Formats: sequence, structure tokens, C-alpha cells
Amino acid sequence: MISIELQGRKALITGGDSGLGAATAKSLAEAGADVAITYRFKSDAAEKVAEVIRSYGVNAYIFRLDNISKKEEVDALFQQVDQQLGGLDILVNNAGTDGPRAMCADSDIAAWCQVVEIDLFGPYYCARKAVERMRKQEHGVIINTSSVHEFIPWAGYSAYTSAKAGLSMFSKTLAQEVATLGIRVIAIAPGAIKTPINANVWQDPKGLADLDDKIPMGRVGEPDEVGHAIAFLCSDLASYITGITIPVDGGMLLYPDFRQGG
Ligand code: BGC
Repeated sequence: MISIELQGRKALITGGDSGLGAATAKSLAEAGADVAITYRFKSDAAEKVAEVIRSYGVNAYIFRLDNISKKEEVDALFQQVDQQLGGLDILVNNAGTDGPRAMCADSDIAAWCQVVEIDLFGPYYCARKAVERMRKQEHGVIINTSSVHEFIPWAGYSAYTSAKAGLSMFSKTLAQEVATLGIRVIAIAPGAIKTPINANVWQDPKGLADLDDKIPMGRVGEPDEVGHAIAFLCSDLASYITGITIPVDGGMLLYPDFRQGG
């Protein structure tokens, strides 16, 4: 029988207190990994995720990471990882933001830059620290959470789409650099998944109907569906997969407007 086995692996998930990060924490723990999560504000939510992790009989760690776009804070995080986990096999760069909706010409420059700093610089800072450790042990997996919007333009969110497209190329380039070191780097591109980031849309019946219409499978995804995909990609079952973006999107990238006509 084939099963996803991550026993003995040590994983770090940024932004693990909610949404896709929390679902990923659950999936990796269920597959047997010890899981550390970072959170920014919600220590209670992080504690709840830690309880879920522990319910699978593995170790949970919680670290506060205030600002992922500050290199010094990321360096301090990895010192804590060294001290408490004593190793790192899996990094899931999950923390991110889509920022305020604003057309390019009207956008606030500081807000635009902040989205890129969180969504692109943050994963870069974390990945370089992870590779420092993984290359010594000659194995490791880095998952970068991109979006269908690394492919699909999205009016009002140019910072987000630019950061995600950048993260995609960063993942591919890093994958090329570290392939001989036993390290795999994969990006995932979730579509519309029921998480806090888009709750204002899927909790509104009109918004939900509009979203469903953009998805060939006709429904918004569940966070666990992303968590399961990540658990597989982190496992040895995916040992020959690297340097690519895997969509987890119910077909959102399939140009659903072309189901008819053309
Ligand atoms: C965004 C969601 C959005 C989805 C599909 C994701 O990257 O974070 O807010 O619903 O893409 O457009």
C-alpha cells in the first residue's frame, strides 16, 4: 500500500496559524512530521493549530514572526528552529498577503512594495536559511505558495500577481541551483480556496456564485485539499518532482470561459 510518510521529518510552515498554513500543518502532522508554525498576531489560533498537530502524536512548535520581510527576524527564527527542532527537512513558505485592491496608477507605493516584500522577499529570506541547513544534510524540500495569479492577471492586485510570478521564477531558479544537493523546490498555485484571505468573497452569495463560475469543477476548494497536495509533494513519493508550479485549483487555469464557443 502506498501512503504518505513523513515520520521523523521536521517541518517549518510560515503563517501556520490560519488558512492554508494551518491545513498544511495538519496534513504534515498527520503524515508523521514534527511541525513548527509561525504566526504574526494570533497566538491563540497558533496554539489551537499546535493542539491539532500534537493530536497526531508528533511535536509542535510555535514561533512568533512579526515581519517576514525583515531579514534579521527571519535569521532569528532560524536560530530558534536550530535550537528547538534541531534540524529542518521541510520548509513551507506559506505566509503571504494580497494587499489592498487598487489600480496601478492609484495605488499607494508603500502598500504595493509591502506586498512584494512579504510575498517574495519573505520566501527568499526563509529559503536561503533553509538551504544553508539542507545542503549539509543533502536532503530537503521547499514549498513556495504561489497562486493561480502567477499565471492569471488580476486587476487591482498588480503587487500580488507580480510577487507570485516572481516567486514562481525564484522557485525554478533555486530548484536548478540545488537539485544536485538533494533539495527539491516546488511552487504550488492554489486557486480559490475557502480561507480568511478571500472570506469576504466566498461568504457573500453573489461573490461565491461568481467564483464558482470561474472554476470548471464548480466549487471553491477546501484548505485540506491544498494541505494534502503539499504533504504528497514533501514526501518521497514525489522524489522526482522539482522546479515546477503545481496548480491546486479545480481547473481555474483552464480558461473556463472557453467551455463553449470560441
Ligand atoms: C487569492 C484569492 C483568490 C484566488 C482566486 C488567490 O491567490 O488569494 O483571494 O480567490 O487566488 O482568484
